[in-house]
Amino acid sequence: MNAAKPTIAFFDAKPYDRQFFDGINGRYGFDIKYFESRLTVDTVALARGFDAVCVFVNDQVCATVVDQLCAGGVKVLALRCAGYNNVNLFAAHGRLPVVRVPAYSPHAVAEHAVALLMTLNRRIHRAFYRVRDNNFSINGLLGFDVHGKTVGVIGTGRIGRIFAAIMKGFGTRLLAFDHYPDAALAAAGVEYVDLETVYREADILSLHCPLTPETYHLIDAPALAQMKPGAILINTSRGALINAAALVDALKEGRLGGAALDVYEEESGYFFEDKSDSIVTDDVLARLNSFHHVIITSHQAFFTREAMNNIAETTLRNIDDILQGRENAHGICSTCDGARPCPGKPDGTTCPPGR
Ligand code: NAI
Repeated sequence: MNAAKPTIAFFDAKPYDRQFFDGINGRYGFDIKYFESRLTVDTVALARGFDAVCVFVNDQVCATVVDQLCAGGVKVLALRCAGYNNVNLFAAHGRLPVVRVPAYSPHAVAEHAVALLMTLNRRIHRAFYRVRDNNFSINGLLGFDVHGKTVGVIGTGRIGRIFAAIMKGFGTRLLAFDHYPDAALAAAGVEYVDLETVYREADILSLHCPLTPETYHLIDAPALAQMKPGAILINTSRGALINAAALVDALKEGRLGGAALDVYEEESGYFFEDKSDSIVTDDVLARLNSFHHVIITSHQAFFTREAMNNIAETTLRNIDDILQGRENAHGICSTCDGARPCPGKPDGTTCPPGR
């Protein structure tokens, strides 16, 4: 007699999730139930009785949700993303293993950051519509040479270091801030400096650190005031790294050269959804969208074929490892919360799940 297949409750499922997960699941044989709704306190009852729950960036895994997942017999929470600021790790500690996909394609995100930079700088977003409308004027499309400019990178982990390497190829000077400088980058000429120096000297500033209590609103009014006039700000990391209202003020005053955002503080009501028939009630988002020197993409930096295959493969392997009691290196520790080195494991390696 065949044993029952382990079950996965898959929240916030989109057609592209099904395409890639169903493809990879041929090798695992899980029974995946796709729910279009997000996981919240209102929908957590749907997860009762499943072996595993799979969530994405906008699912809300607060302490109440964790309690109910545990009570419902869920054995593993699998994030199909890198960031985990939407999960209460302390509530999960020792009760519910939490696994994630630490790197699915750092190239995808770094390359998107570069695409945003070049689009904004060379006004491609405006040029595209003009030419489609037979308006061949180039007035207002003036950009600058990236070559020779100073690029600031905050967070030089997997993504930040690739972004830095690409920008090095443009012939830029690179400044970086990270609590754990990367020796290889420093040897390649990246200058690690303090935050204030990055703000003061960068013509282009790109954020690649995680969202933590320390980095919440890292870019606030005082930080924006320190930035070089005309600087371009790029955020492909997490929306709440930037105080969006303060950003609007800086843009209105003409102090910044522009902003390119793949993430937004209050994105969860909008991003990944078709809202074209609705009225946008978020005035900050609407105002940001109104600037010709702001580009917003809807959290798509990760969205390449390579990344989606890696996400599906790693997520299903993570779930399989936990359910089969195997070692798994993609757990998140509530003691270190992603900091390095982990206080509980001073060699800085990833902590086992559920700690
Ligand atoms: P990572 O963990 O490899 O690197 C993060 C780096 O930030 C580390 O070097 C860490 O030391 C540094 N850091 C931590 N706190 C810091 C602080 N206060 N100031 C400066 N640096 C600090 O992470 P990875 O893979 O490079 O991802 C970075 C972020 O990108 C993720 O946290 C996630 O939020 C975001 N992301 C966005 C995606 C998108 O589609 N837009 C997709 C994947 C990740």
